[in-house]
Amino acid sequence: PRTAAVIPAAGRGVRLGPGAPKALRTLNGTPMLIHAVRAMAASRAVTLVVVVAPPDDAPGVKTLLTDLALPDRTDIAVVPGGETRQESVRLGLEAIPDDIEIVLVHDAARPLVPVDTVDAVIEAVRDGAPAVVPALPLTDTVKEVEPAPPGHPTDPEPVVATPERARLRAVQTPQGFDRDTLVNAHRTMAAAGGDGATDCAGMVERLGAPVVVVPGHEEAFKVTRPLDLVLAEAVLARRRA
Ligand code: CTP
Ligand code: MG
Repeated sequence: PRTAAVIPAAGRGVRLGPGAPKALRTLNGTPMLIHAVRAMAASRAVTLVVVVAPPDDAPGVKTLLTDLALPDRTDIAVVPGGETRQESVRLGLEAIPDDIEIVLVHDAARPLVPVDTVDAVIEAVRDGAPAVVPALPLTDTVKEVEPAPPGHPTDPEPVVATPERARLRAVQTPQGFDRDTLVNAHRTMAAAGGDGATDCAGMVERLGAPVVVVPGHEEAFKVTRPLDLVLAEAVLARRRA
């Protein structure tokens, strides 16, 4: 089945601090987005990569990607993104031709995901799961709290519950989908005016379709805060060693 990867890369990266949009920040000299595109194109199944660029930087992103040497099998397209991740993914989906049957959605902010993880996700969709999420067990215990009121982030917060850690998973990307299932989930969500899900699989769950988890990878972590840049560069240095 023909497989495409949508890479939402339109976020500003507020938690990373001031600077260029997060996807264009560099790791050992190469923009994070380029690492992420290479990670998707590394899978032999992926024939199209759709990059959803920061709206103000779409022309620059196009230039950056034309200069990139990708395998012959891989086409690349660039579209401008939206206000939210969900909106950006929807705009990326619109750029996918009709003959694509499997869609991966992969954060530009997870530039170092290994190809084996990408392939495992695709494999599980091929085996019949309409939605597949790579994820890892948690190392920290998690507490549900009654959040401090807005404007008082350092107030003590009462604990409400402690979910059983062994049943929890921290989800990563690429998430893989049967194309019709994902398009349907986005349409249904948009029609409801909703913007609540923090990942695509969450939208599919709300449709009532089954979602499965496969093993993720430590190196698929999301670059979110400044310390994550240090970690990502160390991972790259280790790979080159
Ligand atoms: N994203 C996007 N369009 C948006 C918001 C986010 O395409 N309007 C993308 C980001 O570029 C990133 C992915 O969604 O690759 C995951 O989002 P996140 O890590 O939250 O990135 P940002 O939203 O850029 O970061 P922050 O929340 O700290 O501002
Ligand atoms: Mg964000």
